[in-house]
Formats: sequence, C-alpha cells, structure tokens
Amino acid sequence: MSAPVIAVDGPSGSGKGTLCQHLAQHLGWALLDSGALYRLVGLAGVKHGIPLNDEAPLSDLARTLDVRFEPGEAGEPTAVILEGEDVSDEVRSESSGALASRVAVLPGVREALLGRQKAFAVSPGLVADGRDMGTVVFTGAPLKIFLIASAEERAERRYKQLINKGESVSLAALLEDIRARDKRDSEREVAPLKPADDAVIVDSSGLGIDEVFGRVLALVHERGLI
Ligand code: DC
Repeated sequence: MSAPVIAVDGPSGSGKGTLCQHLAQHLGWALLDSGALYRLVGLAGVKHGIPLNDEAPLSDLARTLDVRFEPGEAGEPTAVILEGEDVSDEVRSESSGALASRVAVLPGVREALLGRQKAFAVSPGLVADGRDMGTVVFTGAPLKIFLIASAEERAERRYKQLINKGESVSLAALLEDIRARDKRDSEREVAPLKPADDAVIVDSSGLGIDEVFGRVLALVHERGLI
C-alpha cells in the first residue's frame, strides 16, 4: 500500500464523519468521505434521468463522474462541485443519503467507485470514512475502526444536526429511517456493513467527540502510525 490508511467504518450517525475530520486535521492526512461519492452518484443519476436501479448507466456515471472536492478555509467544510455546480449542501441532505443507499446496492456502481477511492491514499496518509473501507477498499489498512452507537442516540444526533441546519424533520421518522437504512446496508449482498475481522470496535454511545477522538488517537500511537 502506497500510504498508511486508517479505515473508519460504521452505520450512519455513529460519529464517523466528525471523528474522521478531526483525525485527518490532527494528523495532516488526506480525508476520503466515501459516502459523498455514493450520494453524488445518486444525485447525478436523478439529474440525468437515470432510474436508480439501472445498473449499467449508473456504473458508467460513477466511473466518469466529474466531481471536485475543494478544501474550505480553516473550520469550513469541503466544497463539493458536481459537473461544475456547487452541491455542498445538497450532498449532505437526508434526501441524497436516501438516494445513496439505493445506488450503493449495485455491484457495478461499487466496482466503478473502487479505483476512485483507492486514489485518495496518498502520502503521508489517509483517513477513510465509509462502510466497507476495512473490508473491501483498504483491506491492508494498518488500523481499522468500526464505530457504533445505539440507533436512538444516532437518531437524536442527526435530529440536532438537521434542526441546526434549518431542515424540518421528526425524530420518530429519523429513527425509523436509520433502522431501515441499517437493515438495507447490513443485509445487502455486496459489501454489507460489518466490521473487518481485524477491526477495533469502538462504541460511541454516551461519549463526546473528544473521548472518541482520544481513544482512536491512542490506537494510532499504539500502532506506530505517527
Ligand atoms: O455515510 P453516508 O451517510 O454518507 O452514506 C450514504 C449511503 O451510502 C449509506 O446508505 C451507505 C452508503 N455507503 C456505502 O454503501 N459504502 C460506503 N463506503 C459509504 C457509503
């Protein structure tokens, strides 16, 4: 492997995104938000009028997708540019998450995104956030984390995030969504959501981001990655 990778997998709302951003910033490593790639394929599919179960054209789209990630100023999120259009807000919305979950079951789409994801592993290292980072994309990663939290806690975290962004959502509907998405993600045939055999399972229920970050950073030191 060209550069060391920290693979962070787990269900939505487990706090992977925040953990990975902190880790990448602290280590000065690159960051791969693989979920954003699936979200972008979903968004682009809708934009091009492709049914979200039509594997061949969606796989072509995934392979050729014109997308740029532009790092923001300190503390600002990365801007996501799809076919020249700034979709930074849209890509993080609940609705694009639902689109992503549908295209993510298609083996052709997953295969098409493999090379793109591997290309993020550059020196001095990569923090990779996803569902199959440790089991499929970066199987040789020297540190694999599987971050979990209860469905109730994940729904509450997501609720607070969305309310802060001004989206109107119901907690009960979010909980139902999260349960349905977990089921789809863990029962699908290709790259189901499950920890790699050599992953360290970290339960973030009841923990703040600083505690989770501290635990993972201790593992980074233990493995001699810095
Ligand atoms: O992490 P996220 O919420 O951005 O992911 C959106 C969807 O994409 C989610 O349903 C799972 C899927 N996904 C995937 O199948 N594999 C990945 N590596 C990342 C996301």
